[in-house]
Amino acid sequence: MDELINHLKSQGFIFQGSEIYGGLANSWDYGPLGVELKNKLKKAWWDHFVRNNPLNVGLDSSIILNPKVWQASGHIDGFNDPLIDCKNCHSRWRADKLIEEFDSSINSGIMNEKDIKDFIYKNQIKCPKCGSCDYTEIRKFALMFKTNQGVLEDSASSVYLRPETAQGIFINFKNIQRSLRKKLPFGVGQIGKSFRNEITPGNFIFRTREFEQMELEFFFNENDENDWYKYWVNEVDWFLQNVIKIKKENYRIREHEQDELAHYSKATSDIEFKFPFGWGELWGIAHRGNFDLTVHKELSKEDLTYLNPIDNTKIIPSVIEPSVGVERLILALLCQAYEEEKIDESNSRIVMKLPNNIVPYQIAIMPLQKQQSEEANKLFKDLIVDFDATYDETGNIGKRYRRQDAIGTPLVITCDFDSQEDNSVTVRFRDSMNQERVSKDKLKDFLKFNLA
Ligand code: GAP
Repeated sequence: MDELINHLKSQGFIFQGSEIYGGLANSWDYGPLGVELKNKLKKAWWDHFVRNNPLNVGLDSSIILNPKVWQASGHIDGFNDPLIDCKNCHSRWRADKLIEEFDSSINSGIMNEKDIKDFIYKNQIKCPKCGSCDYTEIRKFALMFKTNQGVLEDSASSVYLRPETAQGIFINFKNIQRSLRKKLPFGVGQIGKSFRNEITPGNFIFRTREFEQMELEFFFNENDENDWYKYWVNEVDWFLQNVIKIKKENYRIREHEQDELAHYSKATSDIEFKFPFGWGELWGIAHRGNFDLTVHKELSKEDLTYLNPIDNTKIIPSVIEPSVGVERLILALLCQAYEEEKIDESNSRIVMKLPNNIVPYQIAIMPLQKQQSEEANKLFKDLIVDFDATYDETGNIGKRYRRQDAIGTPLVITCDFDSQEDNSVTVRFRDSMNQERVSKDKLKDFLKFNLA
């Protein structure tokens, strides 16, 4: 991981947040190449799950919502982690995680505070830092960031930064259904920032306090004969393999056991990715029943039912929710792409084998020497219209090829001594390092074919 993190910093993908002030724990800034990667990933998700799916539409709701939203959703009462402090070295741990690390077959999510503490004492679970077994009581730690709206800092002005984008969709269900005259089934997708005051952020961008989510809430009639849960698990699987090219051997689909499910959930699957630090949750697909619309209907007193045009009955739609973090998906892509490749006995290179639709630049254009700068510049201006391109003329050509390998550029186009005479350029392939001579007249088609 450390090599990857250093590489991403040195190449302008991801920097430590607030670095010149010593940083801010676990915050990260996306540099010029990182932001390209993020934007492309978000576009790939949006195209697949919103734009190209005739059943679905999009939304961009507020980050700060009426606090009643979080009361209805259960986040104010239930969205917290059990913390325990070691009395000897004063380090702080998530009590449920201590248990799961001690015995991975135990689902501590369903244990209450007393059971958790009893279990830790009974099994003499040692503090991972100092080995002591002497702990404080368990305290609940609220995960939502609280702030104040307006000038007064009283409880009436308290608001929260959203810990998930999903609730913005539920509270707009009626607006969307009515304004677009949507019939069930239909889905609403949203991409946006979420905030959680995580106690144990870490593993680089895997768990942070500020992150982006891409969530789809798919509403359907429970009596619908289609298995929409299975449909969305398959869609996510297909997207991972075929759209962003995550290799099947790098992830697995884990169906939750009955005792792991939230009380309202009928089924949940986690897509787990094989990160360098172990298997970690990437994407969750949950069958949430009609819990969300029911609780908002009860608290808001708004009619969130749907009139079924077939039999004129009123129902509260059920929901399937595929939910993924942008940064987690980026991390999975980066971990899979990063390779230190031995070329021969004395040479090696770092290459990022990112998929062509997610790379920061699809092509790089370069003159072999300064004499071809004008020609290469002209070519760059022509190609930038159709491709994500960069231009580089500093340093020797070998070093420039390595630089493009290091940021994942799949194709490099070089104008050389013969280019003017034979109206051709050399195209170099990132993965094979092979080179091919291509006529400028056919260049655009050649590039499109090889980037498809
Ligand atoms: N609306 C459902 C929901 O938010 P979740 O399992 O808490 O479910 C969904 O989060 C996804 O969001 C996770 O699978 C993960 O990809 C991402 N995610 C959650 N917490 C995160 C964090 N602290 N940092 C980065 N990504 C996070």
